Amino acid sequence: MEPINIAEYEELAAERLAPVAWDYYRSGSDDERTLHANRDAFERIKLRPRVLVDVSRIALGTTVLGIDLPTPLLIAPTAYHGLAHPEGECETARGASAAGSLMVASTMSNRSLEEVADAATCPLWFQLYVYRDRQVTEDLVRRAETAGYRALVLTVDTARLGRRERDIRNGFGLPPHLHMGNFEGAAREQPGQEPGLSGLAVYANALLDSSLTWEALDWLRSITALPIVVKGILTAEDARLAVEHGARGIIVSNHGGRQLESGMATIEALPEVVAAAHGGAEIYLDGGIRRGTDALKALSLGARAVLLGRPILWGLAVAGQQGVAHVLALLNAELEMAMALVGSPSVAALGPELVRLPV
Ligand SMILES: Cc1cc2nc3c(=O)[nH]c(=O)nc-3n(C[C@H](O)[C@H](O)[C@H](O)COP(=O)(O)O)c2cc1C
Repeated sequence: MEPINIAEYEELAAERLAPVAWDYYRSGSDDERTLHANRDAFERIKLRPRVLVDVSRIALGTTVLGIDLPTPLLIAPTAYHGLAHPEGECETARGASAAGSLMVASTMSNRSLEEVADAATCPLWFQLYVYRDRQVTEDLVRRAETAGYRALVLTVDTARLGRRERDIRNGFGLPPHLHMGNFEGAAREQPGQEPGLSGLAVYANALLDSSLTWEALDWLRSITALPIVVKGILTAEDARLAVEHGARGIIVSNHGGRQLESGMATIEALPEVVAAAHGGAEIYLDGGIRRGTDALKALSLGARAVLLGRPILWGLAVAGQQGVAHVLALLNAELEMAMALVGSPSVAALGPELVRLPV
C-alpha cells in the first residue's frame, strides 16, 4: 500500500535499504540528543488558529533569492544518494523537478554536479565544503557556475565530522561500486570501508579545512558572483556576522543532529536568527520537518522556506523519483491543510502570532 505520511515512508525505507546505508542516513551524533531535540521542539510548539478567514484558495508559492517557487519546501543537501537508488542524485533531481521544488546538491554526491544539472529541470543550488586545498573548492565553484547552479550553499557546521557511532561500528564507507561523483583523479580518493572506523569521518577530517573562519566567506565572494547561503547557523551572533560578510541567505541548521551533540533544536534557534539578520539575508530552516504543521511553524516564525533531508532519502529509497515527488506532495498537502485550518491563505500571511512557544 502506498504510504500516506513521512513516518510510513521511513518504515518502508528501513526495510528496503541495506542496514549500513539505513544506519548512515538515520543516525545522529553521540546519544542523538540533537537529532531528537529537533522533533521534540516542534512537538512542544502549539498553534493559535484564527477562524472565519476566507481560505477557499490557499497559495503555497514563495520566492527564494528571487526564484519563484510553487512551494516553500526545498530539498536539503544530503550525501550519497547512490546508497538509496542506482541513479543516485539524478533520480532525486527528477523527483524534485516533477514536484516543482528546488534541490540543493551536495558536494558529496555519487553523481557529478553536471549529471545532476542535466537530469533536473528545477532550480538548483550547490552545497559546498571548503577543502584544505582551496583549488579543489574553486574548481567546484567554476563547475557549478558553468552548469547553471543559481547559488552556493556554504556548510559551516562541519569543522570536524560528528561522531556517528553506528557508522563507526559498521566501518561505514562507500561500497566499491559507488564513487565521489564530483572528483576525478587523486581527489577521487573515497571513504574506505574499515571495521571500527567511520571511513567518512577519516575522509572528511583529512580533506576538509577545520581552520576555516569568516575569511572563507569573503574569499568565496571574491571568486564568484553567485549568491552565497550559509548553512549551519544557530545564534544571533553568527547571523549578524553572516550578514556582515555578505551572505544572502542563512539556513538555520544543526545538520540534522549529526554534528554537535546537545545543540539547540533548529526551531528554537530560529527566532533569534531572524531577529538578528534583520532582513539583511533570507532565512531558511531545516531539521526534523516531518509534517506540514512543522513547516508551518517554521514559516510562521520567519523562515522563508524549509528544507527536507531524510524524508527525501526515504522517498528515494522506496520509489525513486516518484517517491521523492510523493514525499513533497504529501508535505505540501499537509501544509496547505494546516494553512486553511489556522486561517492563513498565503505563506506571506503566516506570522508569529499563529504560534505559542513553550514557556
Ligand atoms: C544522510 C545525510 C547526509 C547529509 N549530507 C550532507 C552534506 O553532504 N552536506 C550538508 O551540508 N549537509 C548534509 N546533511 C545535512 C542536511 O543537509 C540537513 O541539514 C538535515 O538532513 C536536515 O534534517 P532532517 O534530515 O531532519 O530533515 C546530511 C544529512 C543526512 C541525513
